[in-house]
Amino acid sequence: MHLVAILFLTKSPVRKIVIAGNWKMFKTQAESLEFLEGFLPTLDETPQDREVVLCVPFTDLNVLSKNLHGSRVQLGAQNVHWEESGAYTGEISGLMLTEIGVRYVIVGHSERRQYFGETDYTVNLRLKAAQRFGLTPILCVGETKQQRDAGETESLIISQLEKDLVDVDQENLVIAYEPIWAIGTGDTCEAKEANRVIGLIRSQLSNPDVPIQYGGSVKPNNIDEIMEQSEIDGVLVGGASLEPVGFAKIVNYK
Ligand code: 13P
Repeated sequence: MHLVAILFLTKSPVRKIVIAGNWKMFKTQAESLEFLEGFLPTLDETPQDREVVLCVPFTDLNVLSKNLHGSRVQLGAQNVHWEESGAYTGEISGLMLTEIGVRYVIVGHSERRQYFGETDYTVNLRLKAAQRFGLTPILCVGETKQQRDAGETESLIISQLEKDLVDVDQENLVIAYEPIWAIGTGDTCEAKEANRVIGLIRSQLSNPDVPIQYGGSVKPNNIDEIMEQSEIDGVLVGGASLEPVGFAKIVNYK
């Protein structure tokens, strides 16, 4: 193969590979410890250049923090408020998260946008707050089936990025492209199409080395094809991250 072609097809070595599990509202503390027992030993074979992250319910963070000590798994939360403290019933601040060793936080997941009134404005506030406290936010963007069918995927994603990323530091950021129609449905976005949209996302950024993940029905049987794509730097995994053997297969993809 011609050298230029090889350079084009190879992922930038600068971009970090980030494989993250999003447990959503699953697992008690006891269940999370049971997961670790099965999962941690499988990381012996994981290449060093892969960042492995578990984004778990708030109630699991402390127990996982204590039991991940010395392992290479980084801890992530699923939301963060924009103030350090205050009268915000039901919210958690960046200060509270970093105190217990949390390093990543998901911001703007479609389930928060859809069910809990999250807007691009509040997503932007949360992203900036996460960074202020030294957390790395994982910003989720993606279109509904209706928007895709109407040919609005590109404009929607460009609009989300424009609004969400105002004054956000692109040196400390991960983005996840999660087409909503592919979440929890078993209907994965075709790897090449995910690669195309992620290329579009990258073209909108001032820092082209931001790691960009794909999320939506990622499973052990489709991870290799997804990770072969030149623009895709990792995955954000829901259902398949709940079971240690399956998630280990994803983390240890070829
Ligand atoms: P599934 O992997 O269950 O489709 O969920 C994807 C997701 O929403 C990750 O944040």
